[in-house]
Amino acid sequence: MDLFDLTGKVAVVTGGTRGIGMMMARGLLQAGASVYISSRKADACAAAVDELSSYGAVHGIPADLAAVAECQRLAAEVGEREEHVNVLVNNAGATWGEPFESFPEAGWDKVVDLNMKSPFFLTQAFLPLLLAAATPADPARVINVGSIDGLHVNPMPHYPYSASKAGLHHLTRALARELGPRSITVNAVAPGPFQSKMMAFALDDPTMREAVAASSPLGRIGQPDDMAGVAVYLSSRAGAYVTGAVIPVDGGIGTTS
Ligand SMILES: NC(=O)c1ccc[n+]([C@@H]2O[C@H](COP(=O)([O-])OP(=O)(O)OC[C@H]3O[C@@H](n4cnc5c(N)ncnc54)[C@H](OP(=O)(O)O)[C@@H]3O)[C@@H](O)[C@H]2O)c1
Repeated sequence: MDLFDLTGKVAVVTGGTRGIGMMMARGLLQAGASVYISSRKADACAAAVDELSSYGAVHGIPADLAAVAECQRLAAEVGEREEHVNVLVNNAGATWGEPFESFPEAGWDKVVDLNMKSPFFLTQAFLPLLLAAATPADPARVINVGSIDGLHVNPMPHYPYSASKAGLHHLTRALARELGPRSITVNAVAPGPFQSKMMAFALDDPTMREAVAASSPLGRIGQPDDMAGVAVYLSSRAGAYVTGAVIPVDGGIGTTS
């Protein structure tokens, strides 16, 4: 089991207050890591820390990560408390759906800033802390949360979302090449449908939920352990030789359609 042991590791999960970020944060805590979670809302951070604290040492730091200065402040605040960071999970994300004809510039800016730009600047800001943890035998890890919508074409009218996720997947490969020689792995997880606020529009409706589940060869949507599992794998000794990968965790929806 020590292949997956994260005892003594420090992880940061953006958007860790709910949904996929919280699923990953819980998995990392259960594997032994201490975890910093971050999102815009201080009360959401406090509530999530409350919910997760039975699993291990968890801390919340609010930050609006669409702004580069906030990415830098988050890294600085973590750096005041920790000498190194082993795992950075760039998970915070947003979407915007609107018909093609009326799709506004504000929708592009919001989605691309958070989904594609901020993972770059967060990785840049955390670089000194990641380097302080990185060794050739046990690299530091960056995990970007992409989407199957960056792999296949979803018919929903969320153009910048799909484009930002495809961009994030490619950025993952570019950063893997840049940071590998410095003993930092960079991978992306491309989730299929998981219950969250972002997916409530589809999964809270029983008919749509059933249709989404039926679109998977496995016949179901993702469960929290599916996300916890991939986060622990990529963060642990088990995933030390994996970099530049985009791993679909989607029940085959994107990979077989
Ligand atoms: N759920 C799915 O089925 C699915 C599928 C594929 C990919 N994904 C990806 O998984 C990631 C998480 O999505 P989710 O479904 O868990 O969504 P969610 O429930 O809406 O959670 C988003 C998280 O990001 C935080 N956040 C939003 N804007 C932020 C900002 N400007 N700065 C800092 N934090 C911010 C939110 O907290 P605050 O509101 O407090 O800021 C929240 O913690 C996203 O990158 C999403 O694209 C999700």
